[in-house]
Amino acid sequence: MSTILVTGGTGYIGSHTVVELMREGMEVVIVDNLSNSNLEVLDGIEAIAGKRPHFEEMDLRERDATYRVFEKYAGVDAIIHFAAFKAVGESVEKPLAYYENNLLSLIHLLEAMDRYGVDHMVFSSSCTVYGEPDSLPVTEDSPIKKATSPYGNTKQICEEILQDSQASSPGKGLISLRYFNPIGAHPSAMIGELPSGVPNNLIPFITQTAIGIREQLSVFGDDYNTPDGSAIRDYINVVDLARAHVKAIRRLLEKRQKQAYEVFNLGTGRGLSVFEVIRAFEKVTGQPLNFRVVDRREGDVEQVYADTTYANTELGWKAEIGIEETLLSAWDWEKYIRSKS
Ligand code: NAD
Ligand code: WQD
Repeated sequence: MSTILVTGGTGYIGSHTVVELMREGMEVVIVDNLSNSNLEVLDGIEAIAGKRPHFEEMDLRERDATYRVFEKYAGVDAIIHFAAFKAVGESVEKPLAYYENNLLSLIHLLEAMDRYGVDHMVFSSSCTVYGEPDSLPVTEDSPIKKATSPYGNTKQICEEILQDSQASSPGKGLISLRYFNPIGAHPSAMIGELPSGVPNNLIPFITQTAIGIREQLSVFGDDYNTPDGSAIRDYINVVDLARAHVKAIRRLLEKRQKQAYEVFNLGTGRGLSVFEVIRAFEKVTGQPLNFRVVDRREGDVEQVYADTTYANTELGWKAEIGIEETLLSAWDWEKYIRSKS
């Protein structure tokens, strides 16, 4: 049985991935400092997967603490590295905290891999590395644009660190997965996204408006050069996304990589406008959403969606869950967390 160390495993995408790994019979060790998640997530995972993963509360900014995890769980076969700070706006306010957390955590893990003989890692990257793309859909070969935020820059630097690290140590197999816009929750509504404070992202803002926590959704701009004037994104269901990680882990463990450092886009391949998302949400929930159009949000790109051919053919992965089912899962999750508080 393979043992997978999942950093940030109590977080949003991490928790869904842990469930899928456990369903595939893999042994999971989660490490998380709970800076953006809580221990109740472990109950949700256990309720879905029928088993509790190992859990260590620790901070990857501490090298010795990182090493101690590898000493305690000898025999880790691969790492999935989700742990990071991820709020674009906050990264502009606190750039050093973002560089410290996102870069040091990765460096400590790579050092631990060398020290403890772990050869494989899957890394959470982002479509933010493409910035405003020159052509659509975006392939893995599309140019990397200068980052528009410290957060985005940490993802670009981390990818470079992975590439350099792999080049210096040919036995290592590394994969960066560039997520487009992950949304939704597990269909059981036992795990999901827990945004702290006022959400920056569209879907949590929609569900919080629909349930009455926020008065009105602001649509950031209707004067883009798109069919209905609102911005276009590639919204990918978090369970579909989680399953791609299982595929990436298998590819590494079975040594099926074409190159020792690989990059995959993870999206649906289809762009949806903000107005299309609102309409789909209203349709599945049966209730109108209170929204108004305001100015564009600074730093937003007009449209971005993935060419997923490489993930389809090489990983054998394809997004399967549709937007309506996905929005319903986000809504069910919102209702569940509010019923608890
Ligand atoms: P999340 O905040 O829900 O999960 C990250 C987890 O990492 C949290 O549980 C947090 O407590 C933990 N963590 C942070 N710093 C840590 C540290 N130093 N030591 C130990 N644990 C630490 O975020 P998420 O949405 O699940 O994102 C996971 C990864 O995917 C991140 O790397 C993020 O940048 C990337 N990503 C996310 C999105 C998105 O829209 N959610 C899109 C593209 C990429
Ligand atoms: C989606 C669309 C907004 C909120 C961010 C990060 C990116 C990646 C994914 C991590 C946009 C519009 C939003 C609202 C709105 N994360 N919107 N009203 O900005 O595409 O990507 O998450 O790597 O790096 O930047 O996602 O959900 O914030 O916005 O109209 O209240 O919804 O303008 O067009 P974004 P988002």
